Amino acid sequence: MWTKESLHEFIREKMGDYLFIVVSNREPYVHLYKKGKIEYIRGAGGVVTALDPVMQACRGLWVVNGSGEADRKVTDGQGKIAVPPDNPSYTLKRIWLTKEEENGYYYGYSNEAIWPLCHMAFQRPVFRSEDWEYYQQVNKKFAKAIMDEVGDKKAFIWIQDYHFCLLPKYLKEMAPNQLIIAHFWHIPWPGYEAFSICPQRKEILDGLLANDLLGFHIRCHCDNFFSAVDREIESKIDRERFSVVRGGHETIIRPYPISVDFQGISSVVESQKVAQAMDALKEEFQLSGCRLLLGIDRIDYTKGIPERMAGIDRLLEKHPEYKEKIVFLQVGEISRLHIPRYKALNDEINALVEQINWKHSTGMWKPIIMIRRHMSFSELLALNRLCDVAVVSSLHDGMNLVAKEFVSSRVDNQGVLVLSEFTGASRELTDAILINPFDRDQVAEGLFTALELSAEDAQKRMVKMRNIVELNNIFRWAGKAISELLKFEFKE
Ligand code: F6P
Repeated sequence: MWTKESLHEFIREKMGDYLFIVVSNREPYVHLYKKGKIEYIRGAGGVVTALDPVMQACRGLWVVNGSGEADRKVTDGQGKIAVPPDNPSYTLKRIWLTKEEENGYYYGYSNEAIWPLCHMAFQRPVFRSEDWEYYQQVNKKFAKAIMDEVGDKKAFIWIQDYHFCLLPKYLKEMAPNQLIIAHFWHIPWPGYEAFSICPQRKEILDGLLANDLLGFHIRCHCDNFFSAVDREIESKIDRERFSVVRGGHETIIRPYPISVDFQGISSVVESQKVAQAMDALKEEFQLSGCRLLLGIDRIDYTKGIPERMAGIDRLLEKHPEYKEKIVFLQVGEISRLHIPRYKALNDEINALVEQINWKHSTGMWKPIIMIRRHMSFSELLALNRLCDVAVVSSLHDGMNLVAKEFVSSRVDNQGVLVLSEFTGASRELTDAILINPFDRDQVAEGLFTALELSAEDAQKRMVKMRNIVELNNIFRWAGKAISELLKFEFKE
């Protein structure tokens, strides 16, 4: 089985004189001012959950967008800082973006164009030519910063996500023979009909085909990518090798279902810190006496948060006997709030909580608690331990690591997972209660089934899911992708 130690050994032995560089938009540690002092929090989202343990094992350089208000204060003249701050094992290099770049590249093209384009959540993408200009500018800025680090050395570059479709091409243009480049796409790749509306589709494909290796979570996203290439770009698709050859350059396409640090989470969950957090949260939210249903998400329209609340509403309509017996706690990490759709979603969720609580509340009891403050990792794990049912109702999700974190947290083999069939995770976690979040009766039915499941049945399901996540852990994901990457240098 792959472990943090085996990945570390593997990298140490095989990497030779290559630099190991990871690139993503979101940073794993964000420095902020709190009451005049500098503190740090963990960055939100799946990329951080997955890549931080990998980097702790691989010990390379991670290049990111420096987004925290106190980020500059703690870095050196090159934007570098050793992390994790409490026990450093790798280097973070922060790139500084202007407000205009942040607006055009991050809020605009990445999150108002590509994000809705790739998720089947029926949100119309917005393609602004000025955003595209900034997207290109920032991709070039990252390419230059990376090459400043590489100099005349050789390097493996591992790019993360949809913020950097053009980066592989820019890098290869700057250093055709020094770099081996892989790219992992953390969100779904849409079917061709959906993708074809993108005015910059050819440039996006052309950029991605400069990679040596391109990874998606599941096979279906690889197939969708092949269809897009087939329809849009002059190239040769090799179905045997599962690759695309364009202008003499081959890009290998592979599915790598991403995961979490199962062992790491399992051990933190049993720490004193998490035990204390469990007591404090029980007290703060008066959780004793009710069965706890839990949602943990970035506030994003792809996560199906209103749909899950509608399911709670329906559950209480159909089964009023659950009043005063359950409470649904939703942790919502604010995200991308400068985009109007996210602001509207936030308002929609507030109104729904108000309305459902008003409809069903009795005396002191109300069915939904919405938590908006930032929660530490220990607190999130504590909630995972405390809950009876975890609810993941994404309308469309590449993988969804919240589901895998929940499973990894349940060292007691208890708790039930209700999981959207439109997540990548549902392909592996087939012992969850699977739901279609677009159907509120089905969501309610799924919640009811989870609450009514016998302890024995729930345990059997949890044990099976834990075995799957333990085996297919994040170090295996990284080990498999890096092994493939190594073949480019050390041909078999
Ligand atoms: O995994 C998808 C993803 O968009 C990541 O790229 C990102 O780190 C995460 O979700 C959180 O989104 P954001 O960084 O925009 O808050």
